[in-house]
Amino acid sequence: MFRPLQEFSGKIAIIQRATTALEKIFGLLDDKEQISEGDSTLEETKGHIVVDDVYFAYKEEDILKGVSMEVKPGEVVAIVGSTGSGKTTLIRLLTRSYEGYRGSIKLDGVELSSLSPQTVRDTTATVQQDIQLFSETVHFNVALDNPEINEKQVEAAASIVHADTFIEDLPDQWKQVLRERGANLSAGQGQLLTFARTMAYDPKVVILDEATANIDSKTETLIQDAIAQIFSRKTVIVIAHRLSTITAADRILVMNKGRVAEQGTHKELLEQGGLYASMYESGFSENT
Ligand SMILES: Nc1ncnc2c1ncn2[C@@H]1O[C@H](COP(=O)(O)OP(=O)(O)OP(=O)(O)O)[C@@H](O)[C@H]1O
Ligand SMILES: [Mg+2]
Repeated sequence: MFRPLQEFSGKIAIIQRATTALEKIFGLLDDKEQISEGDSTLEETKGHIVVDDVYFAYKEEDILKGVSMEVKPGEVVAIVGSTGSGKTTLIRLLTRSYEGYRGSIKLDGVELSSLSPQTVRDTTATVQQDIQLFSETVHFNVALDNPEINEKQVEAAASIVHADTFIEDLPDQWKQVLRERGANLSAGQGQLLTFARTMAYDPKVVILDEATANIDSKTETLIQDAIAQIFSRKTVIVIAHRLSTITAADRILVMNKGRVAEQGTHKELLEQGGLYASMYESGFSENT
């Protein structure tokens, strides 16, 4: 009797930690304010987003000034724009981390402000630049506290985003315990692992705040292909920094000072010779 009990209380501790983990990962913990409105849920989710003339202010000054965009189910939209142009603010609204916008944001035809934050979070997974890993096994880091995600699903999700190769090279493979903040993984491997987590949770919409720092070229190739795999399976909104990500998008939204300055495909925007074209010429380096 003793040992099962011990194991059980161990599991509770893990579950409690994982609940916090989920909050952090899918809830944009640092940026979240207390959301008071909305308790509706969605009957069927397709992953269709329509943003119409949205204004938003953190304090008095409007940060978003009439943003409109549409992302159809399965489409990939890349957001680019200079620092402070409102990219992160827009995705915070889409993930319902902030409320109090004016205008309309619809997820599968329902106004976001009437949906519960939990419904929005179940439908849309956010992959942030800041990777969240836990001092638990690889399996735990992918499935977190979800008992419905089994070993096969974890492995299948990891395989889609090419995380399986490096995991199987670890001494304990899927049972390998990661060190705090993923210190025994490279930054790129950490990203692949968070991609695997996203695929295992299988949301309709993936919101990706792309990070590019310090990734070796071999892992970089894997990441680029992993992103392509996610693109082919999900509705995606990505704050993009890699040229390969930007050009792979169905549509690019160029933000400038809280407005959508330009919108189109890579080719269309280059031909337009405007803001996007000049960002492209400067290699996107300082602008995105
Ligand atoms: N929590 C906040 N409270 C008040 N103002 C904020 C907050 N977050 C962002 N801002 C302001 O809103 C504006 C847009 O910021 P946002 O983070 O959306 O830009 P961004 O396009 O994501 O920039 P970057 O490329 O640097 O990430 C900036 O002027 C910023 O100072
Ligand atoms: Mg940002």
